[in-house]
Amino acid sequence: MIKNRQIVLAARPDGWVKESDFRLVETAAPAPQEGEVLLKSLYLSLDPYMRGAMNEKRPYGKPVNIGDVMVGETISEIVESKNPGFKTGETVSSYAGWQEYAVSDGKGLRPVDAKLLPASAYLGAAGMPGVTAWYGLLKIGMPKAGETVVVSAASGAVGSVAGQIAKLQQCTVVGVAGGPEKCDYVVKELGFNACIDHRASDWYDALAAATPEGIDVYFENVGGPLLDAVLARCNTSARIPLCGMIADYNSKERYGVRNLVNAVGKRVKLQGFIISDHPDIWPEALGQLAKWVREGNIKYRETVTQGLENAAAAFVGLFKGENFGKQIVKM
Ligand SMILES: NC(=O)c1ccc[n+]([C@@H]2O[C@H](COP(=O)([O-])OP(=O)(O)OC[C@H]3O[C@@H](n4cnc5c(N)ncnc54)[C@H](OP(=O)(O)O)[C@@H]3O)[C@@H](O)[C@H]2O)c1
Repeated sequence: MIKNRQIVLAARPDGWVKESDFRLVETAAPAPQEGEVLLKSLYLSLDPYMRGAMNEKRPYGKPVNIGDVMVGETISEIVESKNPGFKTGETVSSYAGWQEYAVSDGKGLRPVDAKLLPASAYLGAAGMPGVTAWYGLLKIGMPKAGETVVVSAASGAVGSVAGQIAKLQQCTVVGVAGGPEKCDYVVKELGFNACIDHRASDWYDALAAATPEGIDVYFENVGGPLLDAVLARCNTSARIPLCGMIADYNSKERYGVRNLVNAVGKRVKLQGFIISDHPDIWPEALGQLAKWVREGNIKYRETVTQGLENAAAAFVGLFKGENFGKQIVKM
C-alpha cells in the first residue's frame, strides 16, 4: 500500500486565513482503474485564488467543501498508467490538489518538457501565472511602445511576467512591490524602469514622480489605495486589466474605491478577466512564454517550500508578502 498525505479544508476562514483552517491527513493512495493514471506530485503551486475557494460562495469556480482536499495545480510524474494516451515516467501538469498522489482519467493533463525548462517553471512564468500576465497585458492592456505601464505585486508570479512583457513591448514600466529588496530585484534583475515600495510612507508621491507622463496601462493585482492613486494619474483612454485584488481576499470589509469617477472623464477601460475562460489562447501564450524564458527575455524567481506539511504556512505567507516570486511546494 502506498501512503498518501493530503491537506484538506478543516474550516472556512472568517477573515484572515490561518494554518488551523487546514488539516494534514493520511490515507492510502488510490489505485488507477482501466483508462486512468496514478500521479505522484513533484511540485504543488500555491496561488491567491485558493483563498476564494475556501469560502462558502465564490464569484467563479466551485468552493472546496469542508473535509475535501484543497484544490491546486501540480507538476506530477505518472507512476502507473492504465491509459494508452500516457506513459509511465511522463511529467505532466495536473489539478491534482494538495496531496502526494492522485488518479486521473487523463482529462486536463498537460505534458510538460522538463528537459526544456525546470519542471517547476511550468507552474509559474511558463504556466498559468505567465499565461495570465500574457493575456491580461496584451489582450486587455494592449500597451503601445512608449506608453507608461504600472504593474502591482511586481515581483510576484504574475506581475513579474506582466512587467517584463511590457518591457518587451518597449514601454516604460513601473512596478509596485513590498520592501526595498523586492523593489531592487524588480529594477536590477527584471529590468523595470522603476519600482515603488508600497510599504514606504512616501509611496503616493513616489508613484507620481515615477510616472511624470501619466499612466496608460495599469496591470492590477492588488486593489486598495493603490488603485485610487493610479486612477488619479490615468491618461485619456488608459486600460486597466483587473487581474486580481489580493488586498481584499482576507478582508471582511472591502476597500471602497474613491477615484472611479476619473475613469469617466479619462475614458478608462477597466476589465476583469479569469484566465481559465480563455483556453483558446493558452497554446500560443505557453509557447511564447517558454521561448522567452529559455532565451532569458523573461526571468523568474521562486520561493520553494519543502514538504506538504509546510504548505499551509506558506499559503498564509502569500497574503503577507512572505513569498518572493512564484510560491511553490516541493513535495
Ligand atoms: N484573473 C486571473 O485569472 C488570475 C490568475 C492568476 C492570478 N491572479 C491574481 O494575480 C494576483 C497575483 O497573483 P500571483 O500568483 O502572482 O501572486 P504573487 O504576486 O506571487 O504573491 C502575492 C503577492 O501579493 C502581494 N500582496 C499580498 N497582500 C498584499 C496587500 N494587502 N497589499 C499589497 N500587496 C499585497 C505580496 O507582494 P508584495 O510583498 O510585493 O506586497 C505577495 O507576495 C493575485 O491578485 C491573484 O489573485 C488572477
